[in-house]
Amino acid sequence: MGRVEIPQELAGALRKARRVAALTGSGVSAESGVPTFRDAYEGSGLWERFDPEELATPEAFARNPKLVWEWYSWRRELVAGAEPNPAHRALAELERRVPLFTLITQNVDGLHRRAGSENVIELHGNILRTVCSAERTPQEPGEESPPRCPRCGAPLRPDVVWFGEALPPGAMEAASEAARGCEVFLCAGTSGVVYPAAGLPREAAESGALLVEVNPEPTPVTPLAEFVLRGRAGEVLPALVAAAFPPG
Ligand code: OAD
Repeated sequence: MGRVEIPQELAGALRKARRVAALTGSGVSAESGVPTFRDAYEGSGLWERFDPEELATPEAFARNPKLVWEWYSWRRELVAGAEPNPAHRALAELERRVPLFTLITQNVDGLHRRAGSENVIELHGNILRTVCSAERTPQEPGEESPPRCPRCGAPLRPDVVWFGEALPPGAMEAASEAARGCEVFLCAGTSGVVYPAAGLPREAAESGALLVEVNPEPTPVTPLAEFVLRGRAGEVLPALVAAAFPPG
């Protein structure tokens, strides 16, 4: 694992910042063994023939709640077996070091909170929570597939945002406020193509934040970023936090 070079100017800006925000995508969980959303399903066998963008929709659920429920059960098992990686832990450390830190995630795997992050905005919900598909009340799933709501009999569903659905109330407003108010905005592990989340890096940059991208590949965010750290989040984020806040 080569040493990651962190520009001194960036380390200094992070150390001095009062307000920092971060937007993460599935690339931050890739090193925990959770497949990223878009290159997720090569080699995943049974589920390979299904395009996630077809299953993660209200229409797919209405048409075949059992199939969609089982697909999420498979993903939930993947996530339950995963551990936070150094990227998640670096962001939890950053929250402890920075006066005001907001973590905005598109991930539904809950790994940021398991790593110790507290101020987390889950823009797309959380796969480990189950709700009634009619009343959206939290429910514990039974054994049947799909499980049914004990109150109204509607099928239960994962508490995640599907394509075409609204984000959790207030989530985008809080994320937008953090993006506009921060001095440094980290954008890690996201392809930056799914809105409204993908609009946050530009909103931060246009509000004067120093925009940093962490990704092995270029994305639409790259041209907006002041600093582009080309590498894996599990290596780059710990190096970035250590450069800004030297241990010891
Ligand atoms: P994508 O799969 O679209 O993008 C993953 C990004 O992570 C890519 O840019 C990869 O280059 C990058 N990446 C891969 N490994 C990485 C690593 N080790 N470290 C850092 N970056 C790495 O996933 P998202 O951008 O999260 O929405 O997708 C955003 C949303 O699209 C998801 O939340 C989901 C999907 O539709 C909903 O489900 C509503």
